[in-house]
Amino acid sequence: MNWEAIIAPYSQVVEELKVKLKGMRRQFEYEARHSPIEFITGRVKPVQSILEKAEKRQIPLERIETDIQDIAGVRVVCQFVDDIYMVVDMLRSRKDFKIIEEKDYISDKKASGYRSYHMTIEYPVETIHGNKKVLAEIQIRTLAMNFWATNEHSLNYKYKGRIPVEVKQRLQRAAEAAFKLDEEMSKIKTEVQEAQRIFHRK
Ligand code: GTP
Ligand code: MG
Repeated sequence: MNWEAIIAPYSQVVEELKVKLKGMRRQFEYEARHSPIEFITGRVKPVQSILEKAEKRQIPLERIETDIQDIAGVRVVCQFVDDIYMVVDMLRSRKDFKIIEEKDYISDKKASGYRSYHMTIEYPVETIHGNKKVLAEIQIRTLAMNFWATNEHSLNYKYKGRIPVEVKQRLQRAAEAAFKLDEEMSKIKTEVQEAQRIFHRK
């Protein structure tokens, strides 16, 4: 298989989405408003990981592009939980791609303790062979959720998915602490906004 040719439109999508999302953040800055976006990252799934996922899920090679939805992945990291839903609303109102699926692992966290908002989109990308619609996954999460997920991901990698129970329990407690941190920060956010409203009225 010519993996470089298969991957090319996906890296195009990741780059385009990063540009567009960074553009959104800049607009908030120009208008001197609190930006719901803290930072953006993106990656194309390495071929090795694509093959491992296909193998694990019994996906035949010819169905990889339809059945693996995160070959192109973009992550939007926010300060506050409210910001996530603001980003979600903005993404829903866009006309440059179609939302295929949404998963709210914030109101409904995973057993691991994982929290994030996921969107699978169908993005039309121009290739040298014409227009092609490719799937991409957008993960939207707070800094606290990102901190937890990044560490849990490293441990999963280290233990090849079989994290020892003691470590799992610590991760559960860490997830609880991350949740509390988000909750406390949300309360401060409201106070800050209130204070700013009063300040501006004077
Ligand atoms: P995969 O989890 O990717 O196999 O596909 P899925 O169809 O189950 O989608 P899901 O929305 O559950 O997960 C997609 C992506 O979310 C993963 O590739 C990870 O990046 C992230 N994710 C999901 N669950 C966890 C988790 O328990 N821990 C961490 N660190 N990341 C997770
Ligand atoms: Mg999963």
